[in-house]
Amino acid sequence: MVSVVIGLQWGDEGKGKIVDLLSQKSQVVVRFHGGNNAGHTVKNSFGTFPLHLIPSGIFNKRAQACISNGVVLDLDVLLSEIKTVSKVLPDLKKRLFISPRCHIIMPYHKLLDGLYEQAKGKKKVGTTGRGIGPVHADKVSYHGIRLLDVKNQTLFAEKLQIQVTLKNRIIRALGGKPLIFTDVLKQIISQYQELKPYVKEPLFVIQDALQKKKAILGEGAQGFFLDNDWGTYPFVTASNIVAGNLNSSAGVAPTHIKKIIGVSKAYTTRVGSGPFPTELIDAFGEHIRKIGQEFGTTTGRPRRCGWLDLELLRFACLVSGTTDIALTKLDVLDDMAEIIICVGYTLQGKKIRYEDVSAEDLVRVKPVFKTLKGWQRSTRTTRSFRSLPTNARNYVRFIEEFLGVPITIVSIGQARSETIIRT
Ligand code: GDP
Ligand code: IMO
Ligand code: MG
Repeated sequence: MVSVVIGLQWGDEGKGKIVDLLSQKSQVVVRFHGGNNAGHTVKNSFGTFPLHLIPSGIFNKRAQACISNGVVLDLDVLLSEIKTVSKVLPDLKKRLFISPRCHIIMPYHKLLDGLYEQAKGKKKVGTTGRGIGPVHADKVSYHGIRLLDVKNQTLFAEKLQIQVTLKNRIIRALGGKPLIFTDVLKQIISQYQELKPYVKEPLFVIQDALQKKKAILGEGAQGFFLDNDWGTYPFVTASNIVAGNLNSSAGVAPTHIKKIIGVSKAYTTRVGSGPFPTELIDAFGEHIRKIGQEFGTTTGRPRRCGWLDLELLRFACLVSGTTDIALTKLDVLDDMAEIIICVGYTLQGKKIRYEDVSAEDLVRVKPVFKTLKGWQRSTRTTRSFRSLPTNARNYVRFIEEFLGVPITIVSIGQARSETIIRT
């Protein structure tokens, strides 16, 4: 049986926590797209880890952990993450499988990411600066270099030389400092040598698990509204967030997917530029940022905060085929007297849906708000849905009835144990 965890908002919904929890009952966990633009926080008995590339399910020692072909790799970040995690999980070499088909984020990708953003000025996307857009651009335009290309050093040198020459022309034109080919060559070859024991195609592990009907868990990155097709383009990321991407990015046919667990915060956050209809630019927003510790796991940037937006979640559930919702950070709303939810939009007085408007128009929509009563009591120690305050239960029920999707997990703290599973 295959389950997939995806983000339903603009990322940072708490996917790391949910994957860590669900991986306890999984035999294979697969991180299948994105790169180290992702930062997935896991807090369990091993400690607290902000994971960027290694699957958050790694802490189940009986599980095989895969980084599949859809993931783009910064070898430096990956190696340092392997070192950190190996301190608590010394058996990593046996359990971690990295696809040789993964594209490598080269130094020129990071450089170009910054130069493009700079050139766009006020219109910048606010990327994480990790080279994600440029490495995907190279992938789809056949300029990419994959892990398997480094195996043959002569061929690798030829491919790299073409790319460094080409990219240096663009870098120079944009006022950047050109790269030295031999430096990049040496760096990547040495990093590849270190990584070699882990470079084993996960497809065989995955296909074997499918045949034996084992539990496979896909770990998505980013969130639905950062999806390159369905998000608030151009304020998006380079990959597809939807669960169907498990097919092209990990070799799992869509017919195998039985559960799609969409993760949403009890409110909304966003990092970087782009429209955000329910954004709070007042003291309430500050308050949520402070209580929810809303600062980026990857870049440390303050996250923009706002009320829960059910118009967005409706669309995300519709297109992603979400079967279950994991609602996180309910505890952050504990002390609010009133909680506001967006139930739709209007534009120039007319009802409008997310899918009807461009990112530019989304800036101008007016949210239609509904006010619910807060519960003003701590939920952190609650372990059953029944024992949640009545108004907290009402909030959860209102959301699931509006969306027509059951909220089967409610998270009320960072730690794995701070979770309510509804059966
Ligand atoms: P991800 O990218 O979706 O994995 O999310 P991040 O790890 O970037 O950000 C989510 C943050 O919220 C992390 O610091 C988590 O530890 C934390 N978190 C997750 N669930 C909860 C929760 O229910 N309550 C609180 N207070 N924090 C949570
Ligand atoms: P996780 O997996 C939040 C955002 C960036 C920027 C846009 C494009 O932790 O939820 P990119 O570097 O991908 O080219 O940036 O996407 N972004 C994220 N925001 N969480 C993430 O990942 C993100 N990954 C990318 O802030 O707005
Ligand atoms: Mg994150």
